Amino acid sequence: MKTFKKFYIEITSICNLACSFCPPTQRAKGFIGLDEFSHRLDQIKPHTNHIYLHVKGEPLLHPKLDAILDISHAKGFKVNITTNGTLIEKNRHKLLDKPALRQMNFSLHSFDGHEGSTDKDGYVASVLSFAKELVKQPDVFVSFRLWNLTKDNGPTWSASETRKSSKCWNGSSRWISESRRSSCAAAALSWRIAST
Ligand SMILES: C[S@@+](CC[C@H](N)C(=O)[O-])C[C@H]1O[C@@H](n2cnc3c(N)ncnc32)[C@H](O)[C@@H]1O
Ligand code: SF4
Repeated sequence: MKTFKKFYIEITSICNLACSFCPPTQRAKGFIGLDEFSHRLDQIKPHTNHIYLHVKGEPLLHPKLDAILDISHAKGFKVNITTNGTLIEKNRHKLLDKPALRQMNFSLHSFDGHEGSTDKDGYVASVLSFAKELVKQPDVFVSFRLWNLTKDNGPTWSASETRKSSKCWNGSSRWISESRRSSCAAAALSWRIAST
């Protein structure tokens, strides 16, 4: 039995957004090299089979994301990616049909959290289009994160009802609850996905 459920490997400290709620990292800007990534996997292998590719930074900026997934698969790891989703269109070919990929988490609140974001409809459409394609693969999960960024747009529901409205979607008829802060908009988005 492995000691840790998951490890976080920050494949880049760089981000294409500057969300108001996210303190900038003090770490040097850069991308992990494939040799170093491979070495880190060897180091953690005795302790876990699951990795995330972020701490701060935006993992979809890494130019060798496809190779990172291939190396992870070769070494027996399952990968979870948390992303702001703004670069999903450019990267979908690097993510689809990768057996290592277990889960994609989309931080949808980053769109409004970043001053200067434009084309929200285009953003949501590109995330949903990718998600629908991804969940055609077996045993892959998509999670949509959506926070209340202001007091004004908060839900009027109870805390337990609010928790229920944040879901993990596995592409079948099943919705899986995920305990995260969420909003009425999350429920609306869930409904929109489920009904398309
Ligand atoms: C730091 S981001 C890195 C990955 C990617 N850039 C993204 O936004 O999903 C990882 C997660 O941390 C969340 N986050 C950012 N600032 C936070 C804060 N101050 N407290 C808690 N979570 C935060 C983000 O919304 C995101 O869901
Ligand atoms: S996209 Fe992610 S890493 Fe970048 S500023 Fe927003 S929360 Fe932070």
